[in-house]
Amino acid sequence: MTEIIPFDLRDGTIFYNGEFVEWKNAKVHILNHGLHYASLVFEGERVYNKKIFESTRHSQRLHDSANTLDFKIPYSVEEIDQLKNELVAKQNIVDGYIRAFAWRGSEKMAISAQENKIHFGIACWKWPSYYSDEARKAGIKVKFAKYRRPPAECAPVFAKAAGLYMICTISKHEVEREGYNDALMLDYRGYLAEATGANLFLVMKNNELHTPLCDCFLNGITRQTVIGLAKKRGIKVVERHILPEEFCDATDVFITGSAAELTRVSNIENKHLFPTASQMTLDLMQDYQKLVQA
Ligand SMILES: Cc1ncc(COP(=O)(O)O)c(C=O)c1O
Repeated sequence: MTEIIPFDLRDGTIFYNGEFVEWKNAKVHILNHGLHYASLVFEGERVYNKKIFESTRHSQRLHDSANTLDFKIPYSVEEIDQLKNELVAKQNIVDGYIRAFAWRGSEKMAISAQENKIHFGIACWKWPSYYSDEARKAGIKVKFAKYRRPPAECAPVFAKAAGLYMICTISKHEVEREGYNDALMLDYRGYLAEATGANLFLVMKNNELHTPLCDCFLNGITRQTVIGLAKKRGIKVVERHILPEEFCDATDVFITGSAAELTRVSNIENKHLFPTASQMTLDLMQDYQKLVQA
């Protein structure tokens, strides 16, 4: 097994508050608002063959997430795009992952932090794949999470913000301990929502592609891309509220995300089994790889 070097001990360059700094020197004081009050927004994006996939959409979403949390990132969408490209070149990334993020600083350590400085960083690292090609096709094993996605009236659910991941980490840890790969989250009403860091699709017996309506969670950029690819193939895509028992009407299930790409789900709590990939999933996986590598 290859040794995993902790993220604070790696070599390279990070963009941090206006300059490219040595990786190990990208430090913050432990008393900061982002850490204590989760006032941090971030993006996870991928580099394929030296090119960032959907860079501007990610930069725009970062801005939108910050606006939702009531702060403004001190770099424009165009500047963020430019900085990400510079960093990818400096880090010599061919296939990798980019993390751009912004958070409130240390001026006030209280709920109200109107004047706190907004900090901004970008890091990127080599990362060929979250799941291997075979693993993505073979499929992961999931179990329902104990937490549910809250309604839009109760949290800033469309922002990619740190605080929303608290229930994801707890849920994922719990199911990992039982031998599952990921947790599947229901929404507050009991409809299917998403995995802890990826959207969900069901290939139905009638050859339609169904996906939960994103009215209380992130409408992922990969999700939107896959919907476009499916429509291009003439596949009927239905976005609707889906009950967990409707897995019985599916022939295949997959999740989508910048990190997970398209990854099949082959086992849901040992109750719903999808041992073989559907042709639709394989086609969409291929279309997606073609698109990101283009
Ligand atoms: C909770 C959650 N849902 C969905 C997604 C998929 O979003 P995207 O396809 O934009 O990466 C992600 C990943 O960012 C996520 O963290």
